[in-house]
Order: sequence, then C-alpha cells, then structure tokens
Amino acid sequence: MQTMKVFVVFVAVFVIEQASAAVNTNELAKALHNKLSSILEPELMFAPAPPGSNFKGRPQPVSPKLDFLLVLDSSGSITAEHFEWVKDNSKVLVDYIHGQSPIGTYGSRVGLIEYSTQCKTHVEFSFCDYNTVSTIKNRISQVKFDNGGSTATGPALQLAKTELDIKGRPGNVRVVWVITDGKSNSGVKPKIPADDLRANGVMVCVVGVGNSVNDVELNQIGDSGCVFRSDSYSQLKTAARMAYNLSQPQLSSGFFNNLSFKRV
Ligand SMILES: *[C@@H]1O[C@H](CO)[C@@H](O)[C@H](O)[C@H]1NC(C)=O
Ligand SMILES: *[C@@H]1O[C@H](CO)[C@@H](O)[C@H](O)[C@H]1NC(C)=O
Repeated sequence: MQTMKVFVVFVAVFVIEQASAAVNTNELAKALHNKLSSILEPELMFAPAPPGSNFKGRPQPVSPKLDFLLVLDSSGSITAEHFEWVKDNSKVLVDYIHGQSPIGTYGSRVGLIEYSTQCKTHVEFSFCDYNTVSTIKNRISQVKFDNGGSTATGPALQLAKTELDIKGRPGNVRVVWVITDGKSNSGVKPKIPADDLRANGVMVCVVGVGNSVNDVELNQIGDSGCVFRSDSYSQLKTAARMAYNLSQPQLSSGFFNNLSFKRV
C-alpha cells in the first residue's frame, strides 16, 4: 500500500514536470510580441520645423529604428528541413520590424550571421547590403544550411560585436537575435561576448529550440526578459506568425483583438 502511494506521488510529480516543460504556442507568441513591441514602442517626437520657422506642430508617435542582427545556428542537429523554418521565422521577424519601424537605408536595418563550427561561422549579409523588405526576405531564402559539426555560439557573438562596431548606425537601437537548438561546444564561452555586447548597449535576445538547449547558457546569452524557449522549430514558426498577427490589429481576430498593442 505504502509503495503504491509513493508510486502515485512519483507519477504525479513526473506528469507535472512534463507539463511545465512544454511551451504553450499562444504564450510564446504573446511573449515574442510583448518583447518586440516594447523594443519598437513608439515615442512622441516633433517633426523637424520647416526652414525659417519655429513651428513645431504636434508631436507624432515614432518607433525607434533598429539595427537587428539575426544570429542563426546552422549546426547539423537542426536538419535542413528545420533550418527552412528558422529562415521562415526570420522573415516573419523582418515583417514584424517593418510593420512598426520601416526598413530602409536610413530606417531599420537587418543583417544575418550564420554559425556552426568556428570555421563556418560567417556574416551572410550585413546591414549595408539590402534596404527593402523584399530584398532582405529573398536573401534570407537563399541562405544555405551549413550542416556544421559543432556549435560555436560564442565566436558567432564575437562576430556580431565586430559587425555592430563597424556597421552599426549611431542612434539605431542595436539588437542581436540568436536562434539555437543546442549548447555551445566550440570557441569562447558565449557569456563573455554576450556580456561584452550588453556593456556596449546592445540588446541580446535568444530563442532556444527543442530539449537539447542548456538553460543556464541561454540565460547567460540573453538579457533578462529576452530569453525564449520553444519546443520545436514548427512551433516557433507558428508562434512568430501569431506574434506578427498580434502586431497587426486588422489581422487579429477574437481575443487577440484585445491584446493588440497600444500606440501612444
Ligand atoms: C495570421 O493572420 C492571417 C490573416 O488573417 C491568417 O490567415 C493566419 O492564419 C494567421 N496566422 C496565425 C498563425 O495565426
Ligand atoms: C474585448 O474587450 C471588450 C471590452 O474591453 C469585450 O467586451 C469583448 O468581449 C472582448 N472581446 C473578446 C473577443 O474577448
């Protein structure tokens, strides 16, 4: 009888732990939307006065411009099929940004670092290469899966720091957005370049996908409040689209309407 009770308690605890480990797609979508909308939260700004006039008019809500650097894990464990979903997710993020703070040479900009082994880690395209949503999304479609044998997250973040140091535009809000399925196992520990980025005013966000990610490491990479977990790449793809819909009130229906983010 006693053994039976212990067994029941054990099963119950196990079930609860399993349940808490699963990520709810709606919750993930809301969390992504809340974070992105807070990064892009408009501020009231005066338009420049016409020449020879002090007239300032009424302040208008203006979202900050971003220098948004995607840092995508392209190691073998992800598989080519799932990497397509990472790319899809990235394109939705580009749409999301553009919807709030238009992409352009003097607007928001997007760059992309692809990483796996230290040797394969590279800048796929920089902030300076493309200045429209369609060219950026087409370019993301062309990114080839590296299928690399290790996960050099630290070196990829070092490269992100260099990229932002050289090509970041003063005044743009700098965001590094890492998507990874695993723990780093090559090169410098990610905490070091992640802290270095933060010390230089860069926001660092990370999405850990699947059950091989190391939570301790995710929390060292991402800023507090910018660490996300997803069960799978297909869930992340859906959640990103839902987050985008939340940012576009006319696309949302039902209870989402009441969550749509408020403009100033
Ligand atoms: C987003 O909105 C579009 C247009 O209403 C809809 O077709 C699509 O299913 C929505 N996607 C998600 C993931 O909610
Ligand atoms: C949205 O909020 C309004 C009141 O704020 C409420 O009356 C309405 O039922 C809500 N709609 C949904 C779909 O939850």
